[in-house]
Amino acid sequence: MSVLHRRTLLQAMALAGVGTALKPLALLASATPSVRPMPTGKLADWFILHNDRPWALETRRAAYGIAPITPQSAFFVRNNLPTPPESIIANRDGWRFEVSGVARPGSLTLAELKALPTRVVASVLQCSGNGRAFFPHRPSGSPWSLGAAGCALWTGVRVADVLEHFGGALEEAQYLTATGAEDLPEGVDADQVVVERSIPLDKGMDDCLLAWEMNGEPLPLVHGGPLRLIVPGYYGVNNVKWVRRLAPTAAESGAKIQVSGYRVREVGESGGPQHPSMWRMNVKSWLNGPGGDGGPVVAGKAMLYGVAFSGERGVSRVEVSADEGQTWREADFVGPDLGPNAWRSFVLPVELAAGEYRFVSRATDRQGDTQPADATPNHRGYGHNGWRDAALTVNVVNTLPAAAEPEPGESVHQNAVATPTAAVDTPLSPLAREGRAVYLDRAQPACGACHTLADAGSAGVTGPNLDVLKPGADRVRLAVEQGVGAMPAFDALLTETEIEALAAYVAEATR
Ligand code: HEC
Repeated sequence: MSVLHRRTLLQAMALAGVGTALKPLALLASATPSVRPMPTGKLADWFILHNDRPWALETRRAAYGIAPITPQSAFFVRNNLPTPPESIIANRDGWRFEVSGVARPGSLTLAELKALPTRVVASVLQCSGNGRAFFPHRPSGSPWSLGAAGCALWTGVRVADVLEHFGGALEEAQYLTATGAEDLPEGVDADQVVVERSIPLDKGMDDCLLAWEMNGEPLPLVHGGPLRLIVPGYYGVNNVKWVRRLAPTAAESGAKIQVSGYRVREVGESGGPQHPSMWRMNVKSWLNGPGGDGGPVVAGKAMLYGVAFSGERGVSRVEVSADEGQTWREADFVGPDLGPNAWRSFVLPVELAAGEYRFVSRATDRQGDTQPADATPNHRGYGHNGWRDAALTVNVVNTLPAAAEPEPGESVHQNAVATPTAAVDTPLSPLAREGRAVYLDRAQPACGACHTLADAGSAGVTGPNLDVLKPGADRVRLAVEQGVGAMPAFDALLTETEIEALAAYVAEATR
């Protein structure tokens, strides 16, 4: 209770009195600082936490090994909406999904699905925004650098076999549309927030899977278990989790996440169907070690290692440079080639004297595409594959320093995410007070329908808890103007002044 500042309590009580669309009673529970446990199976030390609601966990460079499969315990997580409850994996085989847009529409349980021919594919999952942190225009959304990617083995049934089971796709179908089973916030148009994505039907028929195993284990809840769509070689968002409906459709989904979200456009432009969708992943590589965690490496022989991939194509060559791309040396692939959608590990033996090095890698795929030095800036910071930004800095020393205690706050050495305590009670500026009114009334759908913010007495659970995220004013302004993932954009609904005020308010109230 001591952490709830006085203003918050008074406001919570005042709100309870006036009656509001929000649920102030939930506030007391949600504003209590808590330790949010990591999702099942995740090792906290291996991640950079961007968000705990919805989860956004970036794999640390040093957590990637050399073998081409990323273990579940270190596999990145990026969810557009909060994870459905554990109860949906209590009886995995009983999970039922609908199939429409076929000759004989119907449904199947996972148990029934498992009776169809089983396949295993290796495929990289990568968030569209992986590398966003490198773009100088600071796009809204989680600032991923390299670790929003992993490579896993997926077990499932081909979409083609599933559609065949229901008599085949209807003739007019051009796309394959999958819908996730996330809970949607009340009072918000479902199309605005639902995670529903479409891909070309030909792609769906070619190599997509409905998968229930990841790396030989039941698909973890946070990765879409009991059942997710795997679209080999396509960006993460297309690999819909918790699939509850699969349908060949004549048109692409009308959901915001398809129509305007995940579209590549110039900086400053709003997304629309005229812009390319984030489908096939471009050619990319980076080095993970040694010294991927920034720690010192002892002088002498060393093995540089990293990963390289290109959606649907596989890679044919990786080169490494120690002089910002003036000269290159070809690296060797190591370990098995798991197919055109997996990543390949590469190594390059080097002899290092003491000093600081910046190594970069550049992959070429089997169709001859080579990574550019610099990625093309685009509004939301998608598809970064420039080799320069991905440099691995290695600090080589003659002798290792004596083991030091970790800096306080450097890493959370327990399997949980600490929630910061509430802010000090400082009065709001006049601008922020205006912003408070925007937060409470003027923004529609209301910010509080999806976010928790103690000062405003809101306890929404669809988006990040703003008291925990503590976004600065710039980050709020960008998110509100542009929208992020399942969050709608408000640029057409609020004036610039209102957005400025809102940004000041959220920043001050969570400071
Ligand atoms: C329909 C639900 C919904 C509404 C309404 C909504 N948000 Fe969000 N918001 C989200 C979700 C979901 C995310 C996480 C987005 C992601 O990472 O994909 C988010 C993310 C954010 C972020 C973090 C952005 C970042 O850079 O990671 C901020 C700040 C934010 N919202 C502020 C607001 C404010 C202020 C309002 C009111 C104008 C608002 N939101 C309205 C759902 C919503």
